[in-house]
Amino acid sequence: MSKNFRVLASVAMAATLAATTACSNTRDTEEASSGGSSSNLIGIAMPTRSLERWNNDGAHLDDLLKKAGYTTSLQYADNKVEQQITQIENMINQNPKVLVVASIDGTALGPVLEKAANAKIKVIAYDRLINATPNVDYYATFDNYLVGKLQGEFIVDKLGLKDGKGPFNLEPFAGSSDDNNAKFFFNGAWDVLKPYVESGKLVIPSGKKIAGEEDWKTVSITGWKSETAQAEMDNRINSFYTGGKKVNVVLSPNDSLALGIAQSLESKGYKPGADYPLITGQDADLANTKNVLADKQAMTVWKDTRTLGDQVAKMVDAIVKGGTVETNDTKTYNNGVKVVPAYLLPPVVVTKEDVKSKLVDSGFYTADKLGL
Ligand code: BGC
Repeated sequence: MSKNFRVLASVAMAATLAATTACSNTRDTEEASSGGSSSNLIGIAMPTRSLERWNNDGAHLDDLLKKAGYTTSLQYADNKVEQQITQIENMINQNPKVLVVASIDGTALGPVLEKAANAKIKVIAYDRLINATPNVDYYATFDNYLVGKLQGEFIVDKLGLKDGKGPFNLEPFAGSSDDNNAKFFFNGAWDVLKPYVESGKLVIPSGKKIAGEEDWKTVSITGWKSETAQAEMDNRINSFYTGGKKVNVVLSPNDSLALGIAQSLESKGYKPGADYPLITGQDADLANTKNVLADKQAMTVWKDTRTLGDQVAKMVDAIVKGGTVETNDTKTYNNGVKVVPAYLLPPVVVTKEDVKSKLVDSGFYTADKLGL
């Protein structure tokens, strides 16, 4: 057996072993691709296949790294923290050069990343910061605070709050509280909206009070689930919108929540048109972009995940080749143990008017896919 063949065979065996131990959910798990030396391996841990964006993120990064000559192990963890930890452990056993991790619970990876550090494997936190560990080397993401700020500013503009219009009935939602990004999104929006809540121009009929630092968690939707957001919106409408009271605006941090919220509103008789509430979103998921076109969602904050993949692929390459890893923020992302050097990309507001110029002309979607 030639040396090369032996290396290939052992990589294939390791991949099979990892796949057998990690594949508790076949739909949500991809196997390590074979065909390279383990010293060239990059591990990519993604949270779930159930949200469109993570499928795109994983596929794009995987593709870029393979084109650059790396072998990859791309794994999805069905939003289960333990499954993600097992997958990362299996990757570490294959001795990758770099681990790229989009975490499910940003505080749960300390012990497994200690193993990575002991094996001298560098770690890049992808999109979501990994907290409470010194063993995360870089962070690449979109400007999460700005995402929320853009949602808040959109609401202020569209409702004419600066011109003194109002009062309007607002229902606020926040993302999953185990995701470090959720607080940034909410704070970005709330810093803009809070003065209008205080002046009474934005009223919250459900009585959700967001005064203290941690109060956003009272409106958080665990696991970013559409069904949970839908059920929560149903409850709020049933309990607080009696006697003809109408919802005017919903602060939704992302598209998966916005989808559930829109479904709830529709089931309660709201129809696109003058009285339909403003709903915000994030990700430009396909179903939501179609909703934007159909006046069922006012906006989405688009994060061109291709650019995030591009940036992370560059970081990986710089780490492996010993070059300088590009970052542009060394202050914002303190993970409780250290400030993690980050590269922040700019998010972009998309409304019905510019779906074509922003999402189609850039090649993010074909016109056909959107029914345009
Ligand atoms: C991401 C969002 C996404 C959400 C739910 C966040 O960490 O930044 O883009 O919508 O997770 O998956």
